[in-house]
Amino acid sequence: MSDESEHTSTNIVWHESRVSRSFRHQTFGQHGCTLWFTGLSGSGKSTLAFTLEHKLIAAGFKSYVLDGDNIRHGLNNNLGFSDSDREENIRRVGEVSKLFADAGLIVLSSFISPFRKDRQLVRKIHEDDELNFIEIYIDTPLAICEERDPKELYAKARRGEIPNFTGISSPYEVPDNAEIIIPVTNTREQSAAQMFDYLEQHEIISI
Ligand code: ADX
Repeated sequence: MSDESEHTSTNIVWHESRVSRSFRHQTFGQHGCTLWFTGLSGSGKSTLAFTLEHKLIAAGFKSYVLDGDNIRHGLNNNLGFSDSDREENIRRVGEVSKLFADAGLIVLSSFISPFRKDRQLVRKIHEDDELNFIEIYIDTPLAICEERDPKELYAKARRGEIPNFTGISSPYEVPDNAEIIIPVTNTREQSAAQMFDYLEQHEIISI
């Protein structure tokens, strides 16, 4: 991607919706926000995001998962795993998350997002627009992810068949300001309950 890409649009005008955020909130019974799941491949991000999505929708809330593997089938199918492609991946899905959060959804974004500065940018994109951004670190150690190896990618990476594989030949920077940390000892149900309770306690959803 060219460095100028974000500056190439000129002569554009921002149009304001006739629906205010507070009207959306009153009508939907929830505050739009983004829960950002970060962690190694195989750490359980997507499983937890989809479990929480189901729990929220079953309780009558509006939620949607943006998942790394899925998004790379469509919107981001022109990006690979170099540092700069990952940066662009996260920037784009950060912007999409913000739009969905602005629309009033509880967005569950599940991406390795290995670089602190990229996650920080997504946080800023939300906070500049006064939208809640909740970072969730799935704290599953590399050894356990590698033992699980659900897609057999770690085995391939160890054989040198996948370049720049996170945790093996590409770094993962652990979050230092995550709102929620999910320990590996949790069951899936405990984790979903922990996140659901957080949303309730912070009045993002009201039961
Ligand atoms: S990110 O680093 O840019 O945030 P993203 O979450 O979109 O990654 O995609 C990660 C998924 O892509 C992994 O779960 C795995 O299935 C697949 N994948 C393929 N190649 C790699 C790689 N080199 N490093 C990490 N994941 C990879």
